[in-house]
Amino acid sequence: MPPKKLENQAWPTTPPLWQSPRVPDTRIVHAADDEMKEAVAAACDLLRAGEIVALPTETVYGLAADAFNPEAVAKIFAAKERPSFDPLIVHIARRGDLQRVAIVPTEIEETVNQLASAFWPGPLTIILPKHPDVPDLVTSGLPTVAVRQSAHPIFRAIGKELNSPLAAPSANRFGRISPTSASAVLKELDGRIPLIVDAGACSQGLESTIVSIEPRDGKKPILHLHRAGPITKEELQKYGKVEKVRAISESHPQATGQLASHYAPLTPLILLEKPSDFQPEPGKRYGLLSYKGEDDGPYVTLHDWECIESLSPGSGKLAEAALRLFFTMRLLDEAGLDAIVAEPVSETGLGVAIMDRLRRASTR
Ligand code: TXA
Ligand code: MG
Repeated sequence: MPPKKLENQAWPTTPPLWQSPRVPDTRIVHAADDEMKEAVAAACDLLRAGEIVALPTETVYGLAADAFNPEAVAKIFAAKERPSFDPLIVHIARRGDLQRVAIVPTEIEETVNQLASAFWPGPLTIILPKHPDVPDLVTSGLPTVAVRQSAHPIFRAIGKELNSPLAAPSANRFGRISPTSASAVLKELDGRIPLIVDAGACSQGLESTIVSIEPRDGKKPILHLHRAGPITKEELQKYGKVEKVRAISESHPQATGQLASHYAPLTPLILLEKPSDFQPEPGKRYGLLSYKGEDDGPYVTLHDWECIESLSPGSGKLAEAALRLFFTMRLLDEAGLDAIVAEPVSETGLGVAIMDRLRRASTR
């Protein structure tokens, strides 16, 4: 998909990075227990040489480069066809590395420590003032940097061995569904990257929760929720007043990343808030993305669906639904349908992040 409206953007100042370079072969190395050392060495060799490598994290697969090497980071934007106004997350291997990439203001130091102790390593990204050593390309020229510490053992091992923070967005082409397995990465980036480290399916399946911290005199800070994710609003509330950042339109690129139409399958996706809203067009092939997929459910019985995929078959557990969301979206996207019809899930806990992704996938 060509990047949208790039010619109108104030940023980028970088070269036309989206002319993706071809690499002859994308190699896959397995990172099961007995092969872990080889996988870590293969990834580090390439990363040290300024290359990009797809790596598993607990949320989704990331496309990583040495965050301190701007030429390597540029390759991420090229392979993903990602516009350079969309900043990357920097992953630290050790909590002590935070000071290498960010400058934590004293007013929010306590909250940063509390959040890091509670959720790192794990799926929480914190936006902080950036350290001058972080290249502008990583942060798209912003004075802030988004930081997290992944809990994935392979990702952590590679970060520690490299001893440099890793800039890594999700390993999909820009605007497409995030990959939760090595085969999904291959479908997205085959022939564009030299290596994928395969450690099986991701354990969370949804990208990290993103927050920034606004201090308040004598009160708990405001935690601005930039992206809903595996760490829920309820979990964050202990550390501050959680406020959702307003959705950002494509006409405000400086506001970065949170474009409405993200995570989109190629097949149009209709988020059907109520079964009675469905107006099928004659002759069109529709597939259902159901929550539980129970035979007598109001969505399953609504139409003669070409195919049905369920987020949490039978049981309806939000954690399972989060884990299977991008995987099932991909299956339906590959089924040759005219449209995917998605059933909503309840907007509590993890359901907030699931509905956020479904809404974005349904925006064209
Ligand atoms: O779970 C995850 O977060 C995965 C894994 C690989 O770590 N990464 C991921 O990265 O989802 P990406 O690039 O697909 O999404 C990062 C989001 C983007 O929407 C970007 O705009 C936002 O983070 N972001 C990065 N730096 C930011 C900053 N300084 N201020 C505001 N938003 C920022
Ligand atoms: Mg992404």
